[in-house]
Formats: sequence, C-alpha cells, structure tokens
Amino acid sequence: MDASAMSDEGSVWSDSPLPIGVLFSQTGVTASVERTQLLATRLAIREINAAGGVAGRELVEVGEDCQANPKLFRAESIRLLDEQGVRLIFGCYMSSTRKAVLPVIESRNALLVYPTLYEGFEYSPNCIYTGATPNQNSQPLARYILENHGPRILLIGSNYIFPYESNRIFSDLVIEARGKILDEIYVPLDPSPADFDRALNQIRRLAPDAVFSTVVGSGTAMFYEAYRRAGFDPARTPIASLTTNEAEVAEMSAAAAEGHFTAAPYFETLATARNRAFLAAYRRLFGPDIPVTAAAEAAYFQVHLVAAAVAQARSLDRARIVEALARVEFDAPQGMVAIDPTNNHTFLWPRVARLDAAKRFEIVWDPHRRMKPDPYFVSSALDDWSLAPQAAKID
Ligand code: ACM
Repeated sequence: MDASAMSDEGSVWSDSPLPIGVLFSQTGVTASVERTQLLATRLAIREINAAGGVAGRELVEVGEDCQANPKLFRAESIRLLDEQGVRLIFGCYMSSTRKAVLPVIESRNALLVYPTLYEGFEYSPNCIYTGATPNQNSQPLARYILENHGPRILLIGSNYIFPYESNRIFSDLVIEARGKILDEIYVPLDPSPADFDRALNQIRRLAPDAVFSTVVGSGTAMFYEAYRRAGFDPARTPIASLTTNEAEVAEMSAAAAEGHFTAAPYFETLATARNRAFLAAYRRLFGPDIPVTAAAEAAYFQVHLVAAAVAQARSLDRARIVEALARVEFDAPQGMVAIDPTNNHTFLWPRVARLDAAKRFEIVWDPHRRMKPDPYFVSSALDDWSLAPQAAKID
C-alpha cells in the first residue's frame, strides 16, 4: 500500500467526516475580535466543503466557547484531542491562551494553527503562526510614528504577556532611533474607565509625541473614549496600536476613533477585487454589518492553507502536514500568503492605517511587498523591512 494513503493512526485515508478543533471565545474580554475569527473560520470551512472537502472528507467544526480564559482553552484542547478524535486545532487570540494550549498540543504531537499577531520569540514544530510577527507590524509602526510624529513615546498595555513583550520590542526600536520611552503603564485585562486615570494623567504631564497601546479587547474602546474625553488631540498625539481592529472600533464613537493608527497586514478597507469578493462572501453569510479584522482574515486563510496541505499529504500526521505546507500558497484577501518552512510563521503584507472620521482604516503606508517573518527579530533595525532578503518571496 502507498504509505501516503495512511493517516497517523495507520488507517487508510477515508471519506469519513474530518473533525477539526475550532477554539475561540464568544464571550469574555476579547470576544468581539474572536467572534470575527470564528466566523471567518466557518466561512473557509464552508468554502472547502462546498468544493468537495479535503481530499474528499468533509470538515466538521468541534469546540466550545473558551470565554477568553486560558484554563478553559487548555481544558477544551484536552477534550478535543483526547475525546473527539481531533488532530488539528485552529484558534486562540491572546498569547496567554496560546501558551496554555501549546503544551497540550505538543504532548499529543498534534497541530495548532494560530491566527493572531503576537510578540514572537517562539517556535514549536506543533504550531503554525499566521498572524504578524514584530518585524511585520511593530517595526513598520515604530518607523511610521517616529518619522511622522516624533520620538517621545509612552507605552500603555493590558496586564499580560503580549503587551509586556511587545512593549519591550517597541522600546528597543524607539531607543535604537534615539527616541525616549517616557513611561510604561499596565491596566487590568478587564478594566474599568477609572483604570485609565493614571495613564491619562501621565500623558497630560509628560506630553508624549505618541502613545503606543497594547490594550486589547473591551478595554480598547474604553481607553480611546477616555482619551477623547480627556481632550487629547490625535493630530498631535495619536494612539498607535497593533491590535485595535475593526471589531473594537465598532464599539467606539467616531470622535474617539478618528486620527489613531494601527499596523496590520489586513484592513477591511483594502481596495482589491480579492478583498471585495471575500467581504461579499463573509457578509452574505453573516450579515451586512459584521466587522472583519486582520485576525479574522488570518483565521480564514489559514484554514485554506492547511486544508490544501492536508489534501496533499492525505494524512493527519503533523510532520507530513507541516512538510506539505512548505509547498502551498493561498491567494488571501491581503495578498498571496505562504508559510516560511524555516520558522513555521507566515509571509505577510505589512501595512499602516489611520482611522478616518467615518471610523474606516485609511491605509497610509503600504509597500506592496510581502515580508518574511522574523519571529526572533534577528534584524531589529528600524528599516530592515525593505532589505531584499526580508521582503523576498520564497518562490
Ligand atoms: C495577543 O495576545 N497575541 C494579541
């Protein structure tokens, strides 16, 4: 028998439905962005099934609401892998949830496919990372802000691993450019408006050129609204973020949103035929007013990429899927994407956008090149993004 027709359990590749774990939060502090990831995952599953499934097998979503709680993410991943016959899990938003799930995945030699920008400095043979790494978002954002607004930066973040690590990286970039970090302030993950008082007082007292925010989830709209109420002018002192996305902007007023910046590989406003087709399919299924985010777009394309790799491998064996992933590309809404086999992260298209008066992300920097992921940030120089090996395509 052809060995390629065997699954990891040693059985012949069958035509039975293929359960895939889908782990996102429908409630909890990051629910609004994670809901967009869940919907985009479902769109990809529908498209794949409508086209005949993965090498003849229908994909079936399994997984419960993990409520933005690392313990629930971990428990649910154990249940899916040990009781539901799952070998592939798509999911996680906060790095704290990925860190909770990954040891479970590794101990069962399964595969986690993670669709969220994160702090980098991680590699697992059992994880494929499809969100932006710091060289694909922090680096362009730091450069844009320093060039256009100035070198005196104040940092504010939610109290968990991604903000600590992102602030460390952003600080390195600012200091390398002879800028100055004025203060570094953390608020609870699930804050109340009063939790931002100290940060607002410091911003008033220190008058930074920009505020780098790694506040995530429902605290985001709270912070932008408090910032507006405190009277800060984004034209003078914008908030620059990696995470503030269409779902969180939908929760704030236009007055609070206008003038602030986000760096990401995808924005809903991308004016390409591919993105228009994606948005039309998403909205046909889920309604005209449902926001799409960069994290959702990654959740969408990663299912297509992995499905293509599994179809080639005709196996659920982790090593074979990862090996096959090196040979597939996907025409994603942001542009053509592919996994970098040297580090399991993704070639992505860096962009910076400014929120306009209609709460739409107007893209203000777009090099129209996809960028190699550098998860360990080996080239941390501020303008290394444009060097040929960084921006090169892998084909
Ligand atoms: C994140 O925690 N990776 C946004």
